[in-house]
Amino acid sequence: MSPIGPDSQLGVARTLKALRARVDGWRSTGLTVGFVPTMGALHKGHISLVRHAAKLSDRVVASIFINPKQFAAHEDLATYPRNEAADLEMLAAAGCHLAWCPSPEEMYPAGYQTAVSVEAVAAGLESDSRPHFFGGVATVVCKLLNQVRPTVAVFGEKDYQQLLVIKRMVKDLDMPVQIVGGETVRESDGLAMSSRNAYLNPQERKIAAKLNEVLAALAEKLEAGAPVDETMIEGRTLLGAAGFDRIDYLETRSAADLESVGLGPLKIGAPARVLAAVVVGRTRLIDNWPVARV
Ligand code: PAJ
Repeated sequence: MSPIGPDSQLGVARTLKALRARVDGWRSTGLTVGFVPTMGALHKGHISLVRHAAKLSDRVVASIFINPKQFAAHEDLATYPRNEAADLEMLAAAGCHLAWCPSPEEMYPAGYQTAVSVEAVAAGLESDSRPHFFGGVATVVCKLLNQVRPTVAVFGEKDYQQLLVIKRMVKDLDMPVQIVGGETVRESDGLAMSSRNAYLNPQERKIAAKLNEVLAALAEKLEAGAPVDETMIEGRTLLGAAGFDRIDYLETRSAADLESVGLGPLKIGAPARVLAAVVVGRTRLIDNWPVARV
């Protein structure tokens, strides 16, 4: 275990025992704890969540754990970018107090058997292409929240369905934590920052930037009262013309619970979200855009 320094320095806990000792110490003196779960390969999007958590709480814990349970056998678990030294530097610079970096064995010791499953809000969209995904996410986030026991935990709107799945789980399981969404941080051309953007070659990187442009254009049309069905058909044409190799989904759903919003114009005063997953080359990108008809 790495030494855990004073609170002005970043501590690193690698065992549940070390994590609990530090966080319980804070809690016993009345300090509130904010938490940001990550899989590492940190970028400005993750760091914005750390800063957000720091505004809402006295101490901030960020976890770095590449969760094997949310990757299918054919996905990129083995090649997922890993750079703990750089991650810890970024967390320290952002004023994070403790990095929680468990090994897979610490998280899932021999004999581990429990899974958490969330229903309707986790169905469709991401689950259509990644049926195993939200089971793995809900299970690890449930464990992480029980391990850290934060007052507040911050998740990015970039993974909008994930944010709503976690909110649902925390509500349904009576977990004593407030879940807060953080805005998507984007590159200068609007591409949502993602650890997987590192996989893009220069030509794919140019195509990738079209995703947010198309979503923004579709949101504007929907806000002006265009029917959902026609707008989504137009969106598919635009994404194809932009050079994406595959569209896993392009849908407009209710922002509150991802339920259907129907085929016609959006209801005034009911916030919606346009959500998409596309593939360029071998890289899968997701993004979403808010829509509000006022
Ligand atoms: P990861 O992809 O590392 O993302 C960690 C957090 O950062 C998530 O809440 C995600 O929504 C947020 N995030 C990613 N890109 C962002 C961006 N451009 N702007 C703002 N926030 C962004 O999501 C996961 O890890 C895992 O599923 C996890 C929740 C850690 C469970 O294993």
